[in-house]
Amino acid sequence: MRASVDRAGLDSQGRAPLIKIRRVRKGDLSKVRDVVEQAFGDFYERQLGTRPRQVFGGAQYVHHRWLMEPWGCFVAEEGEGKIVGAAVSVIWGSVGVVGPVAVLSPYQNQDIGQQLIKATQSFFDENKVTLQGLATYPSSPKHLVLFQKFGYKPKGLIAITSKPLDRREIIQATQPGKPVVSLRRFSTLEESKKKTTMQKLRRITNSIYRGMDPGKEVEIVDGLALGDTLLLERGPELIGFAIYHVPGVSEAPQGALYVKLLAVDFRHRKPDHFHQLMAALEELGHGAGLQRVIAPVYTYYWAAYQALMERGYSIDFIMVRMKRGKLEEYERPTDLVLDDWR
Ligand SMILES: CC(C)(COP(=O)(O)OP(=O)(O)OC[C@H]1O[C@@H](n2cnc3c(N)ncnc32)[C@H](O)[C@@H]1OP(=O)(O)O)[C@@H](O)C(=O)NCCC(=O)NCCS
Repeated sequence: MRASVDRAGLDSQGRAPLIKIRRVRKGDLSKVRDVVEQAFGDFYERQLGTRPRQVFGGAQYVHHRWLMEPWGCFVAEEGEGKIVGAAVSVIWGSVGVVGPVAVLSPYQNQDIGQQLIKATQSFFDENKVTLQGLATYPSSPKHLVLFQKFGYKPKGLIAITSKPLDRREIIQATQPGKPVVSLRRFSTLEESKKKTTMQKLRRITNSIYRGMDPGKEVEIVDGLALGDTLLLERGPELIGFAIYHVPGVSEAPQGALYVKLLAVDFRHRKPDHFHQLMAALEELGHGAGLQRVIAPVYTYYWAAYQALMERGYSIDFIMVRMKRGKLEEYERPTDLVLDDWR
């Protein structure tokens, strides 16, 4: 029998449960999702005083990330096989991103979170990731201290911004006298074209951080139709791209188009190109009957952040980026990048 005194995770003698950390198996997926949603639901309730009706507004983080990175997903299992915690991590080439990490409330503060984070660290080490990072809550001492134990340092703020789509703007993707740019969706390309496009896309992200490769994100979004990747091109040149999700079983909350990762080639980093991509995403969102676009931005990408403000995006909430590894301060303020590490 478990005692439900101060911490229900403790047994009647007050001993911490025996916990095993192992990789996620297919049969665990819905349980993992429950654990993540319960832990975050409790956290939001403690922070805000009310429990959200839908944790993350209906966005989902577990199934597709496990498909994308099965070796990066771990559970904490109590003696009898009960899953009490989980950690998900993904690798974008040389960059490792941790999250979500969650432990059921009665099992918290018993070292389980740390054991899970340790497992993600070994996964990153095995894969020779040079930079690791995450997004967390800047107002929570526990969160900062927890990740600091692993060498993550708090860096800049992340603004989770959004814009309602009811005041629709007319897209002006091309302007008279300017070189013609065109927009296509990755899903519409022939298989052979997808490969070459992926190489061009990698070239863009490699110039943001050496070895950064979000190819798996593009593939999973395409393969599972979670959304699509918008390509901004001029002739054969890829000027920029935006990986986005639409609601369903993706990271887009209900009613919203969500921008996962957007980047403009640094050789073409004119705000115009950023606006062309954002205008097209807004148009796509509107066309799909969605009510808003969500665009998280790391504020060190000052030009991207300012461009969102100019477009009428407002900040819904703030998080902080934590990082460890080589070249922690690699962002150029003029780079037009949106990259969500949640
Ligand atoms: C964040 C979370 C995963 C941590 O899991 P956990 O099992 O409670 O974490 P651990 O017990 O391994 O470690 C917590 C550490 O923080 C420390 N801590 C707790 N509150 C603290 C505070 N106010 N100030 C400083 N340190 C604090 C604990 O003392 C412990 O360190 P110690 O073992 O050296 O004493 C868990 O609280 C959770 O699921 N929260 C809800 C979801 C969430 O917020 N996920 C993370 C999003 S980035």
